[in-house]
Amino acid sequence: MKLLDTIDLTNLPKHLAIIMDGNGRWAKQKGMLRALGHESGTKSVKVNIKACAKLGIENLTLYAFSTENWNRPKLEVDTLMKILIRALKKELKTLQDNNIKLNAIGCLEKLPKSAQDELLDVINKTKDNTRMTLTLALSYGSREEIINAVRNISDKVKNNIISIDSIDDSIINEHLYTRNLPEVDLLIRTSGEHRISNFLLWQIAYAELYFTDILWPDFKEQDLYEAIISYQKRERRFGKTSEQIK
Ligand code: IPE
Ligand code: IPE
Ligand code: MG
Repeated sequence: MKLLDTIDLTNLPKHLAIIMDGNGRWAKQKGMLRALGHESGTKSVKVNIKACAKLGIENLTLYAFSTENWNRPKLEVDTLMKILIRALKKELKTLQDNNIKLNAIGCLEKLPKSAQDELLDVINKTKDNTRMTLTLALSYGSREEIINAVRNISDKVKNNIISIDSIDDSIINEHLYTRNLPEVDLLIRTSGEHRISNFLLWQIAYAELYFTDILWPDFKEQDLYEAIISYQKRERRFGKTSEQIK
């Protein structure tokens, strides 16, 4: 029996988030430059986006560039930005053909102007697509996102727009970049690292975590299916007892 056939399509994560890690090590293992690892990583992005849309996953969020990644050597940062621009241009058709809407989270103003323009163009052209929302986390840092939310909420309190007592989960959610997205159900990290690296700290409060040693350029459909099958075998208790869930 094929792996795909063992997936329960009625129990998919509503929101899948992926920390796409290991491009550099993948290249190094092959004696290639890190840039080629990133190039190769874009192929996995395409494969996984299409596989998620086909399965019926409604929200896919990909960690593509963190606030901390700005501290990498300038040459690598420049290369990553070039790869991003090229991939956006090239994959607009993939998004349209698969009815996928593009969204972006992070401090997008820090991206080079040409990347911002390309991003906004693809977001605009795909805005009416309905099958899946693909969110790219770019120049994204969860702490920065939370700081911005706290500032904006404080400002509203100061101006009597909201009261302190009304601050709850939903008010916080509304002030995050992810305001239109449901909570993360499944978080995958490739490359064998067991950390979150400043990604969606608030939003993964009750996510199932899945770590694999596979490096991102090698992570393809079958690996995605395995992660989803692992997710479906878990009992999500949300603090309750097992008996209460059944
Ligand atoms: C993930 O791969 C891509 C980005 C962070 C932009 P890395 O570039 O982190 O690859 P490793 O972790 O060095 O192997
Ligand atoms: C996290 O990977 C960021 C992205 C995948 C975009 P990193 O490779 O930057 O994270 P660390 O440095 O291992 O924590
Ligand atoms: Mg890494």
